[in-house]
Amino acid sequence: MASIAPLAWGRRYLMCRPEHFRVEYAINPWMDVDAPLDTDLALTQWDALAATIESAGATVELIGQRPDTPDMVYAMNYGFVDGDHVALSHFRFDQRQPEVDSAEWWFGELGYRATRIADAGAGAFEAGDAFLFGDKLVVAAGPRTDASTHKVLATTFGVGVATVGVVHPALYHLDLSFCPLDETKAIIAPAAWDAAGRATVRELVPEPLVIDEDEAYTFCANSIVVGDVVVMPQGVPKRVAGHLERWGFHVVTADVSELHKGGGSIRCMTLPLDTSLEGARSASSHGRDAHAVPALD
Ligand code: ARG
Repeated sequence: MASIAPLAWGRRYLMCRPEHFRVEYAINPWMDVDAPLDTDLALTQWDALAATIESAGATVELIGQRPDTPDMVYAMNYGFVDGDHVALSHFRFDQRQPEVDSAEWWFGELGYRATRIADAGAGAFEAGDAFLFGDKLVVAAGPRTDASTHKVLATTFGVGVATVGVVHPALYHLDLSFCPLDETKAIIAPAAWDAAGRATVRELVPEPLVIDEDEAYTFCANSIVVGDVVVMPQGVPKRVAGHLERWGFHVVTADVSELHKGGGSIRCMTLPLDTSLEGARSASSHGRDAHAVPALD
């Protein structure tokens, strides 16, 4: 059995119980304002998901949902955490922007330093587009995050940014096509990316589990990983779960079908609170040194 080099993060999450979940506007192709939605079932499914994440060994922290932001359950998007600093998103769509005010308050109460990426000069940035993988900060440029934001993220965090162009309207956040599993393995859906993005990910991920577009539509890349446990949405293709099990992961599933109606699944509902870019910072400063020092031959 192949061995797993567990991620250093993914054991502490911020989540938002969907007390005011609705689909009342459509900002991604999954959202249909006319489709029936069972809000009680959404709550039951969310409660079961939170319990599953806790039994996998992670801690869940809670933020209350504002009545005026029906999408707030998708907590991953509030911002990106680096140790005790969080860079808060600048949402593409106005409907979600008030979530940032609540997140800023929540992080402040907990003693984090919170900066708004927009105040640093960024265009759109939604944190569902940003991942730590190995010692790299990987960020999408696409429907929800502007390419011009990458420079601002690099300066804000003091790291190099690996850019992945997302071009698929239904796989609009990076967390729908890219799921870090451990230090060298990730689920990837290249159908979501442009040619340069595919090449970048090929370089970055030594051991990819490649899924096709239909597999990505099950939201199976929108899973979270707690050590060697992968918490996946019910409906994950058998092929994908089987591959993970052969690698030595334990797959557990949760039915979050009502929450899929907003265009997000498990990863979207969980903001990792234990990410640190310390390793990425030293890797990129070594990188800079290597460039700065003239060759001695
Ligand atoms: N309705 C939300 C939106 O369109 C869903 C967000 C899903 N979150 C995610 N991290 N992919 O913004």
